[in-house]
Amino acid sequence: MSNGIEFAHVPVMVDEIVAAFAGIPAGVVLDGTLGGGGHSEALLDADERISILGVDRDAAALSAASQRLSRFAGRFRASHRRFDDVDGAMADASVTELSGALFDLGVSSHQFDAVERGFSYRASAPLDMRMDARDQVSAHELVNESDESELVRILQEYADERFAVRIARAIVAARPVEDTVRLADIVAAAIPAPARRRGGHPAKRTFQALRIAVNAELDVLPVALDRAIGRTVKGGRIAVLSYHSGEDRIVKERFRFHSTGGCQCPRHLPCGCGAERTVKLVRVASKPSAVEMERNPRSTSARLRVAEVI
Ligand SMILES: C[S@@+](CC[C@H](N)C(=O)[O-])C[C@H]1O[C@@H](n2cnc3c(N)ncnc32)[C@H](O)[C@@H]1O
Repeated sequence: MSNGIEFAHVPVMVDEIVAAFAGIPAGVVLDGTLGGGGHSEALLDADERISILGVDRDAAALSAASQRLSRFAGRFRASHRRFDDVDGAMADASVTELSGALFDLGVSSHQFDAVERGFSYRASAPLDMRMDARDQVSAHELVNESDESELVRILQEYADERFAVRIARAIVAARPVEDTVRLADIVAAAIPAPARRRGGHPAKRTFQALRIAVNAELDVLPVALDRAIGRTVKGGRIAVLSYHSGEDRIVKERFRFHSTGGCQCPRHLPCGCGAERTVKLVRVASKPSAVEMERNPRSTSARLRVAEVI
């Protein structure tokens, strides 16, 4: 494990996730974001009729989770893929249909804690932020080679950064930027002093935006949801935990699309467009309990949406 640290990640809304999958048809649940395997372990413990196909693009997560879940031999298989490659992961494990799919989006605490991965603005490391070390583009390329206008787009689109223009200009002026703490200092200096003192670390949004861009997180999400819904049997469920508005917007939009079949007929008239609904909505943007938020501050922004295939 990197830096010799344990794979530390506290899974979010575990009871709600177990409840979301209670009573699904027996079979295979795709855990598209295996991480440390906390959710998978809870699901395997809760229902012996299910097995898990665990997917992660991060090799360190797969190895940690495979160790943690070794006691479920025969009920757990792992696949090193991006989660939009649902078909590839299923083929790896000779699985033909799913009873459910779970996506617990974003990064794990372990990825932040592994300083050398460059996700954190709190410790000095090369700019990287790739979840999958096999990927070509890292934060270093984005920070040092993107046009100023592209940096502005990334900061606005992926983090709603108010000071995107100032930050992008400062980054371009300071190039080459090699290091996480150096980048954090450039960002902090670009933000007006009164705003710098509000709302957490001034570089938090910039780091979030770069991470999302490096890993194309918002591009792969709708594809993954569509494919998982398409491969899940009737009565099976899809549960998604998102952590910021950009993710949640996509989940809401895809679930709405599948729950209406894209029908836009007037509500007061019978549907005449032939749209086919493929899911019903089971949970809409549920939040963690106050107790969980207090115990695990990382859970505060979590929103859980669950849909059932019909
Ligand atoms: C929040 S953590 C999941 C934690 C996990 N639920 C647990 O209980 O330990 C998210 C994980 O998903 C992985 N991940 C994020 N986006 C991915 C993608 N597009 N494809 C595959 N894995 C992805 C990350 O590498 C990370 O390990």
